[in-house]
Amino acid sequence: MLERIGGVAVARTPAQVRAWSQEVRAAGKRIALVPTMGALHAGHMTLVDTARAHAEAVIVSIFVNPMQFGPKEDFSAYPRPFADDCARCAHQGVDLVYAPTPETMYPRGFQSHVEVEQLTQGLCGAARPAHFRGVTTVVLKLLNIALADVAVFGEKDYQQLQALKRMALDLDHPTRILGAPIAREPDGLAMSSRNVYLTADERQAALVIVRSLRAAQAQVRAGERDVPQLIATLAAAMTKAGGRVDYAQIVDPQSLQPLETLDRPARVIVATWFGRARLLDNMDLLP
Ligand code: PAF
Repeated sequence: MLERIGGVAVARTPAQVRAWSQEVRAAGKRIALVPTMGALHAGHMTLVDTARAHAEAVIVSIFVNPMQFGPKEDFSAYPRPFADDCARCAHQGVDLVYAPTPETMYPRGFQSHVEVEQLTQGLCGAARPAHFRGVTTVVLKLLNIALADVAVFGEKDYQQLQALKRMALDLDHPTRILGAPIAREPDGLAMSSRNVYLTADERQAALVIVRSLRAAQAQVRAGERDVPQLIATLAAAMTKAGGRVDYAQIVDPQSLQPLETLDRPARVIVATWFGRARLLDNMDLLP
């Protein structure tokens, strides 16, 4: 018998999730998985809606994954409003929440990892060397446990999404990896659990991110093709607004290799610090 928290069924072990999924599949229903680290916001709910469009049963996993945080990162500070998260899931019609403990996810003696080599080298991988190995390892475990037809991830973490697609392809995983568009606040700020770290002033200043991405998109649509110039303009705008730019790049949307000229589809990707929050955003330049 699964416990219920905030109106939704909660599984704590892989065996509980598998038993649940096997039963759902035996009834002829499709399953969609939405992996999260909790602190759920409206952006996550758009992932749940995308999941629902592809399946009759939706699982949300909530696990703040220690393996994807560096030693000086915000693992301990990361928000964990678990009861609220469960209530939100219930409200959105989620069928099962999977919330394992770190000991269940990584039993004593754990020593196996999965790594997507090239896609994880640059961008966020440059500043967070072990991050993607932690992400791909935990997501592969979640996929193996959930027996889902599809798994849904947000495009805000664009590099993560590409790495997970590659992993599923390379390792013949039967679960289809789907991306969902970035959910934005009405003023344009990309929704993120880390936005709670921003002060009111920092939040206001951080709007420069979406504004400068939109400006870059408009410039390219008007014919601008000078990549270094576009990046310099973006970075200068973010720095002027008080941001500390981690990176700003224009890349091939699949390989994530930096582009020198804009003669094919391109995506602009940035990571910028405002106060304690490292904010990610990205946009199509040439679709
Ligand atoms: O995007 C996230 O929240 C996490 O990286 C994920 C995919 C849930 C893995 O821990």
